[in-house]
Amino acid sequence: MPVPSMLFPADPLNPRRPDPHFAWEARLLRELGGEHHLVDHDALLGGRAEEAVQRVPQGGGPLWYRGWMLPSTRYAEFAAALTARGGNLLTSPPGYAAAHELPGWYGVFEGATPPSVWIPAKGTAAPTPEELADAATRLGGSGPAIVKDYVKSRKHEWHEACYVPELADLAAVGRVVGRFVELQGEFLDGGVVLRRYEEFERTCGPLRDTARPADGSDGSDGADGPDGADGPDGADGPDGTDGPDGTDGADCGGRAVEARVWWLDGRPILVGPHPDAPHQRVDPDLSEVPALVRRLGCRFVTTDLASRADGSGWRVVEVGDGQVSDLPRGVDASGLLASLIAA
Ligand SMILES: Nc1ncnc2c1ncn2[C@@H]1O[C@H](COP(=O)(O)OP(=O)(O)O)[C@@H](O)[C@H]1O
Ligand SMILES: [Mg+2]
Repeated sequence: MPVPSMLFPADPLNPRRPDPHFAWEARLLRELGGEHHLVDHDALLGGRAEEAVQRVPQGGGPLWYRGWMLPSTRYAEFAAALTARGGNLLTSPPGYAAAHELPGWYGVFEGATPPSVWIPAKGTAAPTPEELADAATRLGGSGPAIVKDYVKSRKHEWHEACYVPELADLAAVGRVVGRFVELQGEFLDGGVVLRRYEEFERTCGPLRDTARPADGSDGSDGADGPDGADGPDGADGPDGTDGPDGTDGADCGGRAVEARVWWLDGRPILVGPHPDAPHQRVDPDLSEVPALVRRLGCRFVTTDLASRADGSGWRVVEVGDGQVSDLPRGVDASGLLASLIAA
C-alpha cells in the first residue's frame, strides 16, 4: 500500500519552498520520513486548480493537504485536478464541506454545541429584516447571540460584528449582522449563522498577540493560522485588542479557554491548545465527543472545545477539517504527522 504524501502551500515569493507558515510542519514531516509536494494557494483560490497542482507528481497516490482554508467549491476543484493527475485526496469534497461548514456538522453535534440557525447567502447581500426576524425566532427570540458565517467569525471585531447582546432587539441584530456581512465582503462563506451565546471559562491574562509564532523561533510567518482571523482577506490586525471578551464588564477580559482536539479515524491523536492561546494548558473532557466525530464520518477533523463557566461541562464551539485547522507552533506535532502518513 502506498503511504500518503502531504501537500503544503508554496511560498508565494519562492514557489520551490513551503509557505513560511507551514515550513516547520514540512520540516518535521521530512524528519519523520514523509514526503511532501507544493501547491499554489493563490491559483487554487483563483479557480485555477490545474495550474495550482502542477508541481504535484503524476500518480501521486494518497494525499493529505495541510494548508490555508479553501471554500468548499475550490476544494472540490482541487480534488478533481489531483484526481486527473492520479492523486487522491484522502478527504473527499463532501467530507471537507461536512467538517468545514457549520451546517455540514451541526446536525451531528446538535446538543453538544450552542444552538444555531443559519440563512444561506444570496451573493454578498445582507439577510433581509424578515429573514433575520425569522432566524432570531428560530433561535428562541431572546438572549445574547453571536454572528458568524458557515466557517469564520469576526471575533476581533466583537462588539461591532460578532456579539449580539439581545436577540429581541432586532435593530441591533440587523446592525451587527449588517456590519459582519459588509466586512466579510466577497469572502462571506456560505451564509450568516446566528448562535446562542454561552458563557465559557476565560483566561484572565492579557489578550495574546496571536500573530506571533508560539516558539518565538522566527517571525517569518506573520499571518494568523489557516483558520485564524487573518485570512487572505487581510481584514484583521494582529493585535487582538478587541477579542471575544463577552458581555460588558462581566468578565476578566480574556478569551474563552479552548482546547483543539485533532481526530483521525475517530480517535483523538492530539489534544492541544487553541492557536489563539498556544501556551494555555487544557484538559478537556472527551467522553461524549468520539461518538459524534465517528458519526460525522470524516477521517481527519478538529474540534474546538470550551468549558462552560458554571462548570457544567465542555461544549463543542467549532468543528473543522483537520487539513485547514491551524496547528499552534510549539505543540509537539510528530505523533499527528506520523499518524497521517501511516493512515
Ligand atoms: N455560542 C458562543 N457562545 C459564546 N462564545 C462563543 C460562541 N461562539 C463563539 N464564541 C467565541 O467566539 C470565538 C470565535 O468563534 P468561532 O465559532 O470559534 O469562530 P472562528 O471560526 O472565527 O474561530 C470563540 O473562540 C469563542 O471565544
Ligand atoms: Mg474558532
